[in-house]
Parts: sequence; C-alpha cells; structure tokens
Amino acid sequence: MADIRTTRLHLRRPDESDVDAIFSACQDSDIQRFTLVPVPYRREDAEHFVRVVAVHPRSSVWTIRTLLDDTFVGVAGLRMADDVGTLGYWCAAPQRGRGYLGEAVATVVDHGFTVVGAGTIRWSALLDNVASARLAASLGFRYIGRRTETAHGLDEQVNTAELLRSDPREPRAWPAAVVGPNP
Ligand SMILES: CC(C)(COP(=O)(O)OP(=O)(O)OC[C@H]1O[C@@H](n2cnc3c(N)ncnc32)[C@H](O)[C@@H]1OP(=O)(O)O)[C@@H](O)C(=O)NCCC(=O)NCCS
Repeated sequence: MADIRTTRLHLRRPDESDVDAIFSACQDSDIQRFTLVPVPYRREDAEHFVRVVAVHPRSSVWTIRTLLDDTFVGVAGLRMADDVGTLGYWCAAPQRGRGYLGEAVATVVDHGFTVVGAGTIRWSALLDNVASARLAASLGFRYIGRRTETAHGLDEQVNTAELLRSDPREPRAWPAAVVGPNP
C-alpha cells in the first residue's frame, strides 16, 4: 500500500512507531463511544491494531500525520466485502476542528474507488455523531436512513449513508435532524 500525500497530510500504513500515539488518542471518550475500538483501550489493543487489524488483506488502513511536523492526527480505513467498502475513521482530540479528517477521508475514498476497486462505500454513525455526519455529507455521501447496528454488545440506532463510484464528490444536503441547521 503506497503512502499518500495530501495538501497538509501524510497517510501511510500504521506501524510500531504509531502505537504510543494510537494508545494515547484512544483514551478519548468520543473515540470510545463513536467507534468500535475496545473499551477500556489498552496498549495491547494498539499493538494488535498495527500488527493485525491494519494488515488484514481486505482492509486498507492509514495512519494520518501532518506533513509539516509529523504530528499524529488519526486513523482512517476501509474494510472491503466484495465491491463494498465500509469506512471508518477517527481524529485525535487535540487535532479536531481543522478539517484534517475531511482531507484524509476524501483521499481514502478515492483510493477505495480507484485502487481497491470499490463500487460503493458505506458510512454509518451513532445518531448524535453530528461531526461525523457533517464530514460524510461534505464528501458527497448520500443519506440513506437509520438502521440498527450492534456496537460494544448493544443494539444501537445509527444513521447510514453511501457513496457510489459514479457519484459526484461534492457536498450534499442531509436532513437537518442529522447534521443540524445550515450544513
Ligand atoms: C468525526 C471526527 C473525525 C471529525 O473530525 P473533526 O476534526 O472534529 O472535524 P471537523 O472539525 O472538520 O468537523 C466536521 C464538521 O462537524 C462540525 N462539528 C464538529 N464538532 C461538532 C459537534 N460536537 N457538534 C456539531 N457539529 C460539530 C464542524 O463544524 C464541521 O462542520 P462543517 O464542515 O459544516 O464546518 C472527529 O470528531 C472524531 O474523531 N470523533 C470521534 C470518533 C468518531 O466519531 N469517528 C467517526 C465514527 S463514524
């Protein structure tokens, strides 16, 4: 998997040098609530992530760092089943609010369509994850609706969306109930 450079970011396969940063970032309550990382999150979980999860043959997973000074930003990836990719991402709390994940995920989506061969990329998030919904809407994902998913052993309602290879990558209007007013 080749490295990717965007305007501000360097995306590459996670390795041992990321373990400390991933372990530290995943103590954040939003990452623990809104993603499927183990709770509590132990150092061994970060080691397992870089050694096993990130090298799974059907996954493309990147660690995201700034080009400027190699600051750790977060993680984004796709898990494939046939030609459908499921998107996942998180941003370390100190790096939020700068649009880094929008920049990184746009590139991950491009990679999914052009390199991995995805025809569809799917997104889902808990109903109160407005930041993630706004990010997906800004990348052109079309809102589908709610469904039930199992997360951390609980059945939870999630919002769902998808992007087709042929879809324009431009911001889409989503229901205000999902993204708040003036998305
Ligand atoms: C989702 C996440 C990656 C977004 O990264 P970020 O750096 O916060 O993203 P941005 O600052 O670019 O915000 C994205 C949008 O959400 C808005 N937003 C951010 N936090 C918000 C909040 N708490 N409530 C409402 N809107 C919010 C921003 O204003 C922005 O909207 P805009 O593009 O219309 O201006 C980050 O919040 C995160 O890692 N959260 C925890 C893990 C997670 O939820 N992962 C995704 C699981 S589906």
